[in-house]
Amino acid sequence: MCEDVSLAQLAASEGTPLYVYSAGIVTARYRAMDDAFRGYPHALHYAMKANSTLSIARLLRSLGAGADANSGGEIDVALRAGFIPEQIVFTGVGKTPAELAQAIDLGVKTINAESEGELDRIDRLARERGTRARVALRVNPDIDARSHPHISTGLKANKFGVPADAVRDICRRFAGREGLEFTGLHTHVGSQITDVDPLKRAAATVVALAKELRDDGIAIDHLDVGGGLGVSYDGSEVPSAEDYAEALLPVVRESGLSLILEPGRNIIAPAGVLLSYVVDVKDRPDGKAFVILDAGMTELMRPMLYGAFHRIEPVLCTSGPEIVADIVGPLCETSDTLGKDRRLGRPQPGDLFAVLDAGAYGAVMASNYNRRPMPAEVLVDGGRWSVIRRRQTIDDLLALES
Ligand code: LLP
Repeated sequence: MCEDVSLAQLAASEGTPLYVYSAGIVTARYRAMDDAFRGYPHALHYAMKANSTLSIARLLRSLGAGADANSGGEIDVALRAGFIPEQIVFTGVGKTPAELAQAIDLGVKTINAESEGELDRIDRLARERGTRARVALRVNPDIDARSHPHISTGLKANKFGVPADAVRDICRRFAGREGLEFTGLHTHVGSQITDVDPLKRAAATVVALAKELRDDGIAIDHLDVGGGLGVSYDGSEVPSAEDYAEALLPVVRESGLSLILEPGRNIIAPAGVLLSYVVDVKDRPDGKAFVILDAGMTELMRPMLYGAFHRIEPVLCTSGPEIVADIVGPLCETSDTLGKDRRLGRPQPGDLFAVLDAGAYGAVMASNYNRRPMPAEVLVDGGRWSVIRRRQTIDDLLALES
């Protein structure tokens, strides 16, 4: 079930592969994070990159979230979801002049600037427009988030932000620029972080830097500590939103600065499943088997890209004898594997499986490889459900081609 709706019925009605999200879980997780920081001035800017389907973005907005956008496209989607520019922070390591101009013209809450070159471009574009752009400098604190290397962003070898020891000098040099208003400092050390210590140390770094800026007469008003709080994909214990707030607030409180958080995965990952039918079961010479699904790396890239683990469970109990199987997709690559060496009751073609915790970085990272149309997405709320994104068709795909 997803809330009061049968997953088997959804699959029968809408076909597979199908993403199904629970509005109730999104709401509960957003509120848990918001509540954890109650009593301290804060704003949760939902990281659109985790899942920006319009109805999901609208739901987050209705709960009181702001948005963290990582491209001009995400800004556009945020606006269409009803966020106003003052609710949008704009992050991204390679913002184009066109994207910067878009953000400046709109007057977004803050542009999280990644380099001196970008500060310079923002200043020039803002002055050309006779305005001042609100900026926060992104700090690279050289902290190991101890997550997968592909999604760790806070080490000095990573492409993000400016080194902590360069911040003071850069701010001194740019603070007088007519086109810039320094409003904050930003950091984000990675994603799927399951230990609050690196998050706390990153916060401490920006708190210390904020003090230096204050000594230099640069009065910022917020600290943006990014996203990154992980979820449990395998059922093991991970820090809660409360643990996260208990780690951050004592560090940040002394600064008196308001806090911006950019959670993505923590709110939306556990709220989604990917439904898929078994197409075939093939025995291997070594006694194991392949369970071949109608969903694969085109729908959920995380296992192949990061070796990520997702639980994959039958939607209805299967009574077949236990087997050990690799659960794979239909694509023409061996990397198209959703789960390795899983123990399960031997399924039959036509059985339905759910890949759990697929709400974040699932649908947004889907592709059309092998000319596979993007899956449909359904949002469930109590006993009601609706298709929030219809399945792509081959005509949709070819509409862009001559
Ligand atoms: N803020 C910034 C500046 C970010 O770069 C990110 C994620 C977030 C916030 C949100 O982080 P979260 O709270 O979701 O951890 N595709 C990868 C994850 C990439 C994360 C990129 N940045 C995956 O599937 O694991």
